[in-house]
Amino acid sequence: MDKDILILGIESSCDETAAAVVKNGHEVLSNVIYSQIDIHTEYGGVVPEIASRKHIEKIDRVILKAIKDAGVTKDDIDAVAVTYGPGLVGPLLVGVSAAKAYAYGLDKPLVGVHHIEGHIAANYIEHPDLKPPYLCLVVSGGHTHLVRVKDYDDFEILGFTQDDAAGEAFDKVARAIGLGYPGGPKIDKVSKQGNPEAIDFPRAKVGNSKYDFSFSGVKSAVLNYLNAAKMKGEEIVCEDVAASFQQAVVDVLVDHAISCACDLGENMIAIAGGVASNSSLRATFMEEGKKRGIEIVYPSPIFCTDNAAMIACQGYHEFVRGRRAGLDLNAVPALKIGERAY
Ligand code: KG4
Ligand code: ZN
Repeated sequence: MDKDILILGIESSCDETAAAVVKNGHEVLSNVIYSQIDIHTEYGGVVPEIASRKHIEKIDRVILKAIKDAGVTKDDIDAVAVTYGPGLVGPLLVGVSAAKAYAYGLDKPLVGVHHIEGHIAANYIEHPDLKPPYLCLVVSGGHTHLVRVKDYDDFEILGFTQDDAAGEAFDKVARAIGLGYPGGPKIDKVSKQGNPEAIDFPRAKVGNSKYDFSFSGVKSAVLNYLNAAKMKGEEIVCEDVAASFQQAVVDVLVDHAISCACDLGENMIAIAGGVASNSSLRATFMEEGKKRGIEIVYPSPIFCTDNAAMIACQGYHEFVRGRRAGLDLNAVPALKIGERAY
């Protein structure tokens, strides 16, 4: 029997300070997340400078708690994996610096992980049978990508958004209808009381690839609808606007992913990123997947939004393939999927 491999994961690319210990790339021994959402809600979005300062304040305690909760010691850790991009440069630097300090102090290898590749790897936690190749729809606050996961560390982008990311559209529309930040979970909740067919918002088809996305049109359509209704003195049913907007976004995401899977003969689609926790997206995917004989998998909500367990999972696969970062590892705010900057 091979020796177990324990990875300490660290994540700080946006407004969550997180650390986790994961065994053999899928067994989560601890998952500590300090969310700054309450602080940023006041400003209607993430303020990078405030996020950086909070990360500095919290990161050491979060890491120590992750090791303690896992019931292991620092010496038991085999490697330290950290998000080094993409994300906000200040917040990323805090995690990268902490990871370097731990790796150096404990004399353990350091692995840099791509944040979005981490989101994809979150699927291995509850689906240990999931193995590449498969298709993954990544839908987060900053990314909307249809990716072919050829191997654990080999990704081909088949489609991506030409403008806003899906989560970004959720956040902007939520702000316009007065739900506040973060918009996605709030739209998801109020949509349950609304009629998704009340307003026919556009389902855009754009870009060079038929798998590309665009969400700025649907966002503008919602803003125009709200302005027109206000000018005419018509009542705005917030629940119906939210549900109809959500349905328009979900229809496009599911349609593109399913037609891509059918074209390529793939029988497995994984969903990843914060928007993957959307209840309508999950339900529509399950329904359409069932009709076409395509298996749909997604992580539990806690592993969809930013966390360090997913970073440790991806870190494991990079570690066993021999990837090692030096102590000169830097934050790369615009790191592309599949790109290796060290
Ligand atoms: O993956 P994530 O935590 O951070 C990024 O890497 O961007 O995703 C955050 C995004 C936000 O835009 C948030 O509004 C959205 O995910 N989100 C949701 C839901 N939960 C989070 N969007 C729709 N429905 C949800 N239930
Ligand atoms: Zn994320």
